[in-house]
Amino acid sequence: ITVYVPRDSAAGSVGADEVAAALEHAAGERIRIVRTGSRGMLWLEPLIEVATERGRVGYGPVSPRQVPELIDAGLLDGADHELCVGVVAELPWLRDQQRLCFARVGVTDPLSPTDYEAHGGLTGLRQALERTPADVVAEVTESGLRGRGGAGFPAGIKWRTVLDTPGETKFVCCNADEGDSGTFADRMLMEGDPFCLIEGMTIAAHAVGASEGYIYVRSEYPDAVATLRRAIDIAYEHGWLGDNVLGSGLTFDLYVRVGAGAYICGEETSMLESLEGKRGMVRSKPPIPAITGLFGKPTVVNNVLTLASVPRIMADGGAAYAEHGVERSRGTQVFQLAGNIARGGVFETSFGITLDELVNGYGGGTRSGRPVRAVQVGGPLGSYVPVSRFDLPTDYEAFAEAEAMLGHGGIVVFDDTVDMSKMARFAMEFCAEESCGKCTPCRVGSVRGVEVIDRITGGEDPDGNLAVLNDLCELMTDGSLCAMGGLTPNPVRSALQHFPDDFTPTREQTP
Ligand code: NAI
Ligand code: SF4
Repeated sequence: ITVYVPRDSAAGSVGADEVAAALEHAAGERIRIVRTGSRGMLWLEPLIEVATERGRVGYGPVSPRQVPELIDAGLLDGADHELCVGVVAELPWLRDQQRLCFARVGVTDPLSPTDYEAHGGLTGLRQALERTPADVVAEVTESGLRGRGGAGFPAGIKWRTVLDTPGETKFVCCNADEGDSGTFADRMLMEGDPFCLIEGMTIAAHAVGASEGYIYVRSEYPDAVATLRRAIDIAYEHGWLGDNVLGSGLTFDLYVRVGAGAYICGEETSMLESLEGKRGMVRSKPPIPAITGLFGKPTVVNNVLTLASVPRIMADGGAAYAEHGVERSRGTQVFQLAGNIARGGVFETSFGITLDELVNGYGGGTRSGRPVRAVQVGGPLGSYVPVSRFDLPTDYEAFAEAEAMLGHGGIVVFDDTVDMSKMARFAMEFCAEESCGKCTPCRVGSVRGVEVIDRITGGEDPDGNLAVLNDLCELMTDGSLCAMGGLTPNPVRSALQHFPDDFTPTREQTP
């Protein structure tokens, strides 16, 4: 009997390792335990699954103490119990998703090459290696895939620029710095299906003529780092990396580098500086990294989910991928529901689903049970979207029109007790803390931003100070060198626009 227990760090943080040990202790000889990634239904973790004729039957959240009782109750036969959630793949949360990027996460053993190939792994790479680099770039362009890190730049066009730039040495760099608040999909993919990222990066190397790759992982993700390093070793042992990848003649070497806890190192040029061993300071653009990137060489810089989407695109064809989604937002987005939410986790689906369906539907509203007041989408530099705009479809352009951004797909939920003036102040404070200091609008503007918000909420000449705050926001947007200072006004302005009452000193506090 096979029992699946996640080894993902979110599941681990609520006791998955102890549950696995308790299972081993109670039924070691009768079962085979397979450690997987997480299905992304975080409210059910630790979620254990038992293979039955009906499919995998799930139980969660399981505490180690409950394991003997569950076994007595017939867990190994998939018997009913108050913790039993039924056949996991049939739960609406999973059934309604279109898992292209996350297809194997929570299903397979992340470090089993056999499992990987048995679940479609390497099909995309094999297809790619039989085609010319230009053909591969054309396929990715046809898929409509856009940068999943947040900016949404077309991946095919970026790859084309690198392919067309002459150079004997080129690099593929994966941005796994995932600094946005409320985001964890990169981590879950790296821990739950690391070969998928390796495969995507190898396809990118073939497509642009690169021979070396780096995965830049934030230091807060030690489990992802360990999993990736082990997966890279296995990939070398199997000839998926190194000289003559899968017998094709392609040489591709891959390394993991760990950051040092700076949010700005998620900005691509800062990340390149850090990879070169320097302090993470933003470079002026142009030149863009596609032309002058790591060590001055042409470089693909893409987010984890962008690269991990590529194997499926190559396996099924760009046109099949592009059938998902709306308007210019093609394919699927891996949404991450976080904050004050009843059912938080990862939900991969075609672009176009509304915020209401995600937050109130699948997410089940707030965890506190109070009404939802707003969500912040796209990390700490993203706008606050009020409930009145929950009909907004998740589409890059629709969000931009509503003066918001989808970013990396993180959605952080707040209930009606939130004080939006505090959230606006926090945005400025965060920018002051994380600014690289290279340009004045961001370095100084953010500090002044905190002061001026304090004056407004303190009742000191509110109208005059509101005008100063608006001026400051305009200056930061127009005059900052990178997105850090340039986007910080988003949360501030949206809070002011949708929740002006929160900025008056007489605001009544909701209990
Ligand atoms: P950007 O719009 O300047 O660039 C997007 C990408 O396209 C870059 O890789 C750039 O080099 C590339 N590019 C632009 N023109 C090109 C051309 N002609 N040919 C080839 N490549 C070209 O945006 P940026 O500053 O890189 O990213 C800002 C975004 O980052 C924000 O919108 C935000 O959503 C996101 N972000 C994500 C975080 C995370 O944790 N994932 C954290 C903070 C921000
Ligand atoms: Fe550095 Fe801020 Fe200027 Fe970006 S906007 S270059 S983080 S000072």
